[in-house]
Amino acid sequence: MKKTESQILVIFGASGDLTARKLIPAVYQLHKNNLLPKNFAVVGVSRTKMTDDEFRDKVAISNEHLPREEKLDGFHEMLYYQPLNTKDAADYENLRTKLEGIQKEKDISSNYIFYLSTPPSLFDTISHCLKETKLSSQDNGWKRVIIEKPFGYDLETAKELNQRLHQYFEESQIYRIDHYLGKETVQNVLVTRFANSIFEPLWNRNYIDHIEITSAESVGVEKRGGYYDSSGALRDMIQNHLLQLVALIAMEPPTSVSAKYIRDEKTKLFRSLKPLSPDDVKNNVIRGQYLTSKIKGDVVPGYREEEGVDKNSMTETYCAIKFYIDNWRWQGVPFYVRSGKRLPTRVTEIVIHFKPVHYQIFDQNQGNGDNVLILRIQPNEGILLKFGVKVPGEGFKVKDVNMDFHYSELTSTDLPEAYERLLLDCMQGDGTLFARGDAVEAAWEFVEPILKAWKEDPTIKMYGYPAGTWGPEPADDLIEGENEIWRYPCKNLTNDGNFCEL
Ligand code: BG6
Repeated sequence: MKKTESQILVIFGASGDLTARKLIPAVYQLHKNNLLPKNFAVVGVSRTKMTDDEFRDKVAISNEHLPREEKLDGFHEMLYYQPLNTKDAADYENLRTKLEGIQKEKDISSNYIFYLSTPPSLFDTISHCLKETKLSSQDNGWKRVIIEKPFGYDLETAKELNQRLHQYFEESQIYRIDHYLGKETVQNVLVTRFANSIFEPLWNRNYIDHIEITSAESVGVEKRGGYYDSSGALRDMIQNHLLQLVALIAMEPPTSVSAKYIRDEKTKLFRSLKPLSPDDVKNNVIRGQYLTSKIKGDVVPGYREEEGVDKNSMTETYCAIKFYIDNWRWQGVPFYVRSGKRLPTRVTEIVIHFKPVHYQIFDQNQGNGDNVLILRIQPNEGILLKFGVKVPGEGFKVKDVNMDFHYSELTSTDLPEAYERLLLDCMQGDGTLFARGDAVEAAWEFVEPILKAWKEDPTIKMYGYPAGTWGPEPADDLIEGENEIWRYPCKNLTNDGNFCEL
């Protein structure tokens, strides 16, 4: 097991939603599982005036995202709070005094993680002030910084942010969060591919027909209309989470499981994504917005009626892209990704469609005879393989059947939350599951022509789709091949036949 040294986790933006909903519960789970170092503290920082006790009450004792029934078992005592105006140098001095006091009290070294869970506009200011006040100096202990998404708004702003951060921190100190990488099922993509001998020989253009990746959500923009309207599905989900999945599914085997080798291979893959021309954007990218509709008897508002959203908004809540990877392994294999809000169900999965046999000797095929491998990221996490078997009885009738594995059979406990794993990795100095600066830029490079074409070409359509449906119909036409359509997944991994619970 890796060593976790004594340290303090300093969360900027501590009065925000992410801290209560994800970060503190993740730290609590680490505490419960005895994964925190003995000498450890969390210091919440934000503009709001609060005492340590008020903070403890807000994010621990009265936090609805922490277990109610259990005693928090001393957990809240490791939480502290320091009010701070991000632009005020004197406040950083007060933070230093606070940190030093806690270090003395708990015998903690000057190892700090600064978690920037703030609006991106503050990343630069905070990092600058940390450097100016020497709080980020590594003279007497290591310092790491975690940057929440979104990392940039486009290629230019992502480059700019990288440059700024590099003025204050070494690349090895910067941990860019993409919470999809913290999901067990996402990490398992690497294990499925590289720990088994049966898949990898087939994992190329000779045997794979096409690959789909879907990340669907049934919720709308909820209370985040203001943020979302300046983002959209392409920036919010595809540039980061879905392209990370593409990298893991398509990259070459790394030399070893180390941050450098894995991230080198992913970056190489991002650089091989075939750039989309303006015509490709017109023909191979479909965008849409959900329209008001009735779901299970309830009227749900359309995107443009959501709070914080411009009535004439041209922000997409759905995006589907067909693209290629220009390298030896994947030449000519279409990749399809789609993501949307207010779709029928919440599901993320990767679907590998293998090519049919070269010569079919059975003529009575029940089903389409395609071999399909589905890596289900969430929910009902697992893996499903579809293949043909003989129907018992006369002749040689072939029927598609399912062979499935469910994570629930492997472990009786729930899969750990992504933030738990990511926080622990950062505490241990392991950047494998974080996005590296050059990879983030390479991913933006792929997305850039789409953003540009949407901005400049008014003839590119924004399709409406009724909330609760699978998005704009033209997205179906993206998929090449006779009778080929997207897989329309159900909540349950294996129920993709007639009965589909959403
Ligand atoms: C976030 C997006 O990064 O991911 C949200 O900003 C989205 O809009 C969320 O809802 C989805 O995450 P998950 O883990 O629920 O698939």
